[in-house]
Amino acid sequence: MKVYVPRDSAARSVGADEVAERLETLADGHDVTVVRTGTRGMLWLEPLVEVDTPHGRVGYGPVAPEDVDGLVAAGLFEGRGEHLGLVEDLPWLRRQNRVTFARVGVVDPRSAEDFTAHGGGAGLRAALARTPAQVVEEVVESGLRGRGGAGFPTGIKWRTVLGAEADQKFVCCNADEGDSGTFADRMLMEGDPFTLVEGMTIAGYAVGASEGYVYVRSEYPDAVEALESAIATARALGWLGDRVLGTDFAFDLHVRVGAGAYICGEETAMLESLEGKRGTVRSKPPIPALEGLFRRPTVVNNVLSLASVPMILADGAPAYAALGTGRSRGTSVFQLGGNIARGGVVETPFGMTLGELVNDLGGGTASGRPVRAMQVGGPLGAYVPATQFDLSLDYESFAEAGAMLGHGGVVVFDDTVDMAAMARFAFSFCAEESCGKCTPCRVGAVRGVETIDRIRTGQDRERNLVLLDDLCELMTDGSLCAMGGLTPMPVRSAVRHFGADFGIPEPATT
Ligand code: NAI
Ligand code: SF4
Repeated sequence: MKVYVPRDSAARSVGADEVAERLETLADGHDVTVVRTGTRGMLWLEPLVEVDTPHGRVGYGPVAPEDVDGLVAAGLFEGRGEHLGLVEDLPWLRRQNRVTFARVGVVDPRSAEDFTAHGGGAGLRAALARTPAQVVEEVVESGLRGRGGAGFPTGIKWRTVLGAEADQKFVCCNADEGDSGTFADRMLMEGDPFTLVEGMTIAGYAVGASEGYVYVRSEYPDAVEALESAIATARALGWLGDRVLGTDFAFDLHVRVGAGAYICGEETAMLESLEGKRGTVRSKPPIPALEGLFRRPTVVNNVLSLASVPMILADGAPAYAALGTGRSRGTSVFQLGGNIARGGVVETPFGMTLGELVNDLGGGTASGRPVRAMQVGGPLGAYVPATQFDLSLDYESFAEAGAMLGHGGVVVFDDTVDMAAMARFAFSFCAEESCGKCTPCRVGAVRGVETIDRIRTGQDRERNLVLLDDLCELMTDGSLCAMGGLTPMPVRSAVRHFGADFGIPEPATT
């Protein structure tokens, strides 16, 4: 009999380690093994304990350490007592289509056997049976677009790197998940690190790279440990090294840890940091696909983009492309946070509405008050009002609405939020995290805070609102990277949809 307890850091933060320890103590002398997994992403149920039964895994949660003795006495080891039912049948999971997250929360992230038993490695084997160009075209055909936020077609990026002539090429995984309200990269790395190793190895084969780096933010020590363990195991098994799976293809991976700067999630600042320099933004062009790490052609992809690739190779591009809507193909991983009753990770084909995500899956606000706004796409994303619950979650619909999906973070606010304060926060965040290289961002962010302060206190409000608009236009058009260029997005959306918070009179209704 197996009992599963997450070792994911979100679950550990609410006592999963203590729960696992107590279960192990009570399991002594019984035919019971406690297995540590990733999380299913149902954060309000953590620590979620699962128990194998002939019908599937049943769940108990949230389980506090002091609950364990009582649950075991009531038959937890036999799947009896008061439980949530079959975990796979919980409405939160039934509404999803887990492709990238298929193994997260299911397998033991330290076990290569578990990974393989759940289909791991099939993508890499399929890739190695083809030419690099065929692998690239498969990824192009799948329609996969960059999951870091910009949505650039992954296969096209790989095609550029494959076509570049160089003595060495690199694959760099951007795991500097700095957007507020996002945690999917972390959950994937902690819950199924072998999938990222597999995706990066496929990318290396496809473009002709011999080395890869995962750049992980320092705030993710558990993810670093999980990746280092997976890489060591992969080397020992010949999944990495001079002869990957016995072929002539040589590829190795290394983990590098950042030092806490949000801007190091910008791809060129990340490359500078990887080279041992201060993380400041490089001008583009040249794009990293042509001149990246140590000025060599480099694939820079987000964790989720790379982790989506093994399934595309294993099941074929058409299977992936069959999911989604319009030019947004496949699944996207949304992260529900903020004032939300049921926060966590939702993987679904593009096209679910924002209202379905926040109300049906998220259960509305934790406070029980009406939703007023949702910030989608991190601190640089727009504030979407509750009147736009019917907005389809896909790249095009969001762009049309003056918003962006970004890395899929959705932070919910109830009707007590002061949106002028949130707009001020956008500027102060930018002032704090700006790399300082260009003036519109470095100076504009500070002037933005001052201007909003004057608007909030009613000083010369009309003139300052015009000034704010001018400043936003300047930052959008004149900043070197998305940090300064996108900061106006949350500000402008707040003014547009929540004018009353800035003292703008409501238009008269007839
Ligand atoms: P971008 O649009 O400049 O580039 C997107 C990607 O496509 C880059 O990797 C770029 O090098 C590549 N690219 C562009 N043209 C290419 C070509 N012809 N061939 C090959 N590759 C090409 O966007 P950027 O500045 O890289 O990212 C901005 C986005 O980052 C924002 O939309 C935001 O959502 C997201 N973001 C994500 C964060 C996170 O924590 N994941 C944090 C902050 C921002
Ligand atoms: Fe640096 Fe900001 Fe300019 Fe980006 S926009 S290069 S973060 S100063």
